[in-house]
Amino acid sequence: MKLKKNNKNSYKIESLHHVGVYENSIHFIFDHNSKTCAIIDPAWDADLFIQKITEKGYKLTDVWLTHWHGDHVNAADEITEKTGAKITIGANEVPYLEINSEITTVNDGDIISLGDTKATVINTPGHTAGGVCYLLDHDLIVGDTLFVYGAGHCSAPGGNIDAFFHSMQKLRKVDDDIALHCGHDYGIKISTTMGEQKNGNAFLMIDKQEDFVRYINGMQQGLIAYPTDAVTKKEIELML
Ligand SMILES: [Fe+2]
Repeated sequence: MKLKKNNKNSYKIESLHHVGVYENSIHFIFDHNSKTCAIIDPAWDADLFIQKITEKGYKLTDVWLTHWHGDHVNAADEITEKTGAKITIGANEVPYLEINSEITTVNDGDIISLGDTKATVINTPGHTAGGVCYLLDHDLIVGDTLFVYGAGHCSAPGGNIDAFFHSMQKLRKVDDDIALHCGHDYGIKISTTMGEQKNGNAFLMIDKQEDFVRYINGMQQGLIAYPTDAVTKKEIELML
């Protein structure tokens, strides 16, 4: 897996937050040179997204999906019908995905391109069976795998707490200065870095798999509160 960044600045990321009834965060990657755009997890309002991209003078060519949940994909078909954009999703997510358009699948370590901008696919199962993150030069798109000081649940079809633990260990290897872009704004603030999360996000800080399982089960049983702010290792120990 390639986790190194370089200093090229081929793209810009913009986001819309609190979109639709589940308040999704929708991210747009604009590749400067080719004037093309990839939208991540389009849901709820295809026309709004297409208009935003067109107004900037960019062409929407790609839909990159992090996982199959409806609140991340329910505008994908409409976008593809209206723009011809190509849809990309993790291969292991296909059995769950309910869209009609043609899709391209990716797997761990694959590198995909948007003009001069490259993204490395990181398989991060756990929230779903085939969820992926997209690592760009300065940014990591995580869908519901991580939130600011939190993470998605493992209780829907395809969810798996043990797999989620291993995904967290993988994400701990991402450079500290990489900015994080989550699928929902559930934390105390919107912007964060991997370094900040490695030192305050319990899901990334729990070292032992059995503790991680206990932590998530405790949360699902209502015994442990869902975190929205930074925690210390000591605080995590007390919760467990
Ligand atoms: Fe989700």
